[in-house]
Amino acid sequence: MFKHFYLVCGMFQKFQEKWKVGPVQLFIILLTFAVGGTLTGMIGRRIMNLIPVDGIVWVIIYIIVMTLIWPLMVILVSIPMGQFVFFRNYLGRIAARFTGKQKNQPLPSAEKASRVNLAIFASGTGTNARKIIEHFTNHPSIKVGLVVSNKPAAGVLDVAKDFGVPTFLIEKEEFFRGHSYIPLFREIGIDFIILAGFLWKIPPALVAAYPSRMINIHPALLPKYGGKGMYGKFVHEAVIAAGEKESGITIHYVDEQYDHGATIFQATCPVEDGDTPETLAEKIHSLEHAHFPQVIEEAILSQLVKNH
Ligand code: GRF
Repeated sequence: MFKHFYLVCGMFQKFQEKWKVGPVQLFIILLTFAVGGTLTGMIGRRIMNLIPVDGIVWVIIYIIVMTLIWPLMVILVSIPMGQFVFFRNYLGRIAARFTGKQKNQPLPSAEKASRVNLAIFASGTGTNARKIIEHFTNHPSIKVGLVVSNKPAAGVLDVAKDFGVPTFLIEKEEFFRGHSYIPLFREIGIDFIILAGFLWKIPPALVAAYPSRMINIHPALLPKYGGKGMYGKFVHEAVIAAGEKESGITIHYVDEQYDHGATIFQATCPVEDGDTPETLAEKIHSLEHAHFPQVIEEAILSQLVKNH
């Protein structure tokens, strides 16, 4: 009796570690599996009653029907259970195993004692990432070793491919509730992280793993027009609505708050009558492209000098 109890507890423990969830979430996940499975059985049987076959053909069709319905039911049940993200990732992993398509290719391992290795994090088109990669191509002491994105369709992934820079897609679950990919970044020797239009907040553990080695660019003159929800056109709309005569860019170290760490560099541009969020965005982009790569280089080199 006790032996069985311990076996079950051990099994639950293993699931919690494997899926990186707490006991309550594990309970909800198992409940979702149970309800999803029951619905699959009920609906599957009804469908089979409508199909006039028997024998081995019946068995084959039954297996196909169940295989198709099960993921659908589990995903549907996961929505009211609040576990949609978990099950989307879970089914994604199963699908990847079956199709042999892993989302991410193996990454190169750390080159010891070579150039400072940057990872660029971006969620968008990647015009800044392009400028940074171009700037550090053939640089004697700094290189871009990785482009990280949270969006499979982000243009920045194509930019990276153009330059032969490895790319890596991150998942929300692991990023926010797992190890934030810190072991992986360490393993492949990432020294600095550059945020160039990355829209997820950086988890505290990752910020702590890169103290003064994570740099962000913000399209306004911080501390104004920063913080949650202040990105892209929302920033420029707010600047224009406030009647500002000047806007610009801020390049800063990253801390645990949105757009808050120590400022490294600012540059300004005028906000003229008739400027729209789009025209202001163009001016800001020009400033970013002109300064960001250079400022990253100077910040890194000054740290190298200090550390020697
Ligand atoms: C830039 O405006 C940057 O300031 C902000 O996100 C934007 C990224 O643009 N953090 P792009 O994808 O590099 O063109």
